Amino acid sequence: MSERYDRAYRQSIDDPAGFWAEAADAIDWHRPWDRVLDDRAMPASRWFPGGELNTCHNALDRHVEAGNGDRVALIYDSPITGTKQLFTYAGLRDRVAQFAGALASRGIGHGDRVVIYMPMVPEAAIAMLACARIGAVHSVVFGGFAANELAVRIDDSTPKAIVAGSCGIEPGRIVAYKPLLDRAIEIARHKPDVCIVLQREAGPAELIPGRDVDWNDAVAGASPADCVPVAATDPLYILYTSGTTGQPKGIVRDNGGHAVALRWSMPNIYDIEPGETFWAASDVGWVVGHSYIVYAPLLNGSTGILFEGKPIGTPDAGVYWRVIAEHGVKALFTAPTAFRAIKKEDPDCALRASYDLSGFETLFLAGERADPDTVKWAETHLGVPVIDHWWQTETGWAIAANCVGLGRAPVKHGSPTRAVPGWDLRVLDEAGKERGPSEIGALVARLPMPPGCAPTLWNADERFREAYLSEFPGHYATADAGYIDEDGYVFVMARTDDIINVAGHRLSTGAMEEVLAEHPDVAECAVIGVADALKGQIPFGFLVLKDGVERDSGDIVGEVVGMVRGRIGPVAAFKAASVVARLPKTRSGKILRGTMRRIADGEAWTMPATIEDPAALDEIAASLDDAGYPS
Ligand code: COA
Ligand code: AMP
Repeated sequence: MSERYDRAYRQSIDDPAGFWAEAADAIDWHRPWDRVLDDRAMPASRWFPGGELNTCHNALDRHVEAGNGDRVALIYDSPITGTKQLFTYAGLRDRVAQFAGALASRGIGHGDRVVIYMPMVPEAAIAMLACARIGAVHSVVFGGFAANELAVRIDDSTPKAIVAGSCGIEPGRIVAYKPLLDRAIEIARHKPDVCIVLQREAGPAELIPGRDVDWNDAVAGASPADCVPVAATDPLYILYTSGTTGQPKGIVRDNGGHAVALRWSMPNIYDIEPGETFWAASDVGWVVGHSYIVYAPLLNGSTGILFEGKPIGTPDAGVYWRVIAEHGVKALFTAPTAFRAIKKEDPDCALRASYDLSGFETLFLAGERADPDTVKWAETHLGVPVIDHWWQTETGWAIAANCVGLGRAPVKHGSPTRAVPGWDLRVLDEAGKERGPSEIGALVARLPMPPGCAPTLWNADERFREAYLSEFPGHYATADAGYIDEDGYVFVMARTDDIINVAGHRLSTGAMEEVLAEHPDVAECAVIGVADALKGQIPFGFLVLKDGVERDSGDIVGEVVGMVRGRIGPVAAFKAASVVARLPKTRSGKILRGTMRRIADGEAWTMPATIEDPAALDEIAASLDDAGYPS
């Protein structure tokens, strides 16, 4: 590791307040903070209390006022619709101010929530920034979620307004969002005052008079709104993520800590300076999209890319190289699954030869474990460093990374390198005792967490405390297991809860089990994540039918697959299940999901001593075998 990294890391741990106060100089403050860190705040530390700022001002107006209004802020590249559009800082500021005015004229202001349910169009980023401008709190819901998931989020965040696209476009099909929105509002107990709908040519929607307003009509008569100073500790957004039940967790992000951390991360982790182009190929519905499509590049005065397409099929596995070459991308950030898809389609990376990638310097991967095969393939074919880094929706930015801007460290395949400055990482055993180098245990961070991390869950301080702070007092529990080797390299091996990662999308098997359990013929069920060559993991269900049910099991499996798609959404990718006579359980009744997963993945396993009925595991193994697992 470089001396610069070592120095920064040491200072961030020895003197967090001094370290982050210095980083905060890169942000415009309306009013300076009273204290850098209030580590007695409940339920978790608060950064920059007393300070006031506006995140949208820092993302847009500040750069325009500094004379950089003509610089490109955002490039919209949509191979799926054949559209490209460039927004300068001044142009984006004007569009955002106008939409902020439209929201304000409908009575939306400081602290009000706005749900955004949109595909990857520039208006999604405009709506997010417009909320930030007027101090409203946005909550973006990923387009691949079904009406029920949207309804749960509407009820929890109780938005005054919903901003939606009329449709999303997936390869080969139009996903009509508006019927999903209408259904969600019907299911939800809370009703928004207004829905602002962006009509897309590919699939315009019917508007409900009195409730729905066309985006163009909403902005037509609006006067641009100015930035409103908000408290550093005020929420900027809520982003729901999978928890261990069907009730998602509303991750809260503050304004001050978030702006400071993301601004710091651009030069120091990603080695991106103002004016340089950074592309996060994710979706605005995920945390990566919030942080690195929208906020961080803009806070840094860089150029970001909003890409509406897929790594393959829009039109081919060369589209990433085309975007990198055409827009002069210096660093790309995506999920390993995207590279596995490209590798499968174009194993020799032949399509890369048609593009000039001379300006491309680094590939960053995150969202799931970066398997060494994929990393090596990318290194070989792109000829640039491939940097794995580890983070979570809760943290909002990287926990462990190779901080390229502080001097790149040697890569160890399978490791996201070392703790990022601000993160005091430890590995603990079940009793909370620290483990030695390379010994596996729970990956935790000693408090305080650095700025930018969730200070709480929306309206659920106690759930926050219970989920993250209670298991290992004085530490944040990441719910990832892994180890740290003698060089300080972190290895993230597995989740310790029921979260699985499907194509980089975080999903809860517990939430899927809740849906399966509602099928009238199902007495009991279990869902596990099984290894998948493309998506990393995919869910697989086991169903025990009620006594006396004699229907065709294929029909029942088809029905539960349809239920998960309808209730959670296509993104759950729940496509396979088996009917079994019983589930393998311990004598105390705990389902042996871990052993089932090991069997499915072809890993070594032993018959648990506490198993009630060993034959139940044999049956699981046989049904997995029938389904082609281990693959
Ligand atoms: N709106 C509606 N439906 C969506 C959607 C959206 N925004 N995003 C995905 N879906 C649907 C897909 O169409 C698919 O539907 P299907 O079952 O009818 O085929 C389903 O959800 C599963 O999608 P996905 O898991 O993305 O699989 P895929 O087979 O369509 O594509 C990849 C596979 C690898 C190409 C794709 O997952 C990908 O590009 N991943 C990149 C990962 C990423 O961006 N992760 C974010 C964290 S960094
Ligand atoms: P999300 O909240 O969707 O970002 O998912 C967070 C989870 O994804 C983490 O808790 C990890 O389990 C997993 N994850 C993210 N990045 C990595 C990585 N680089 N290596 C291993 N697992 C990762």
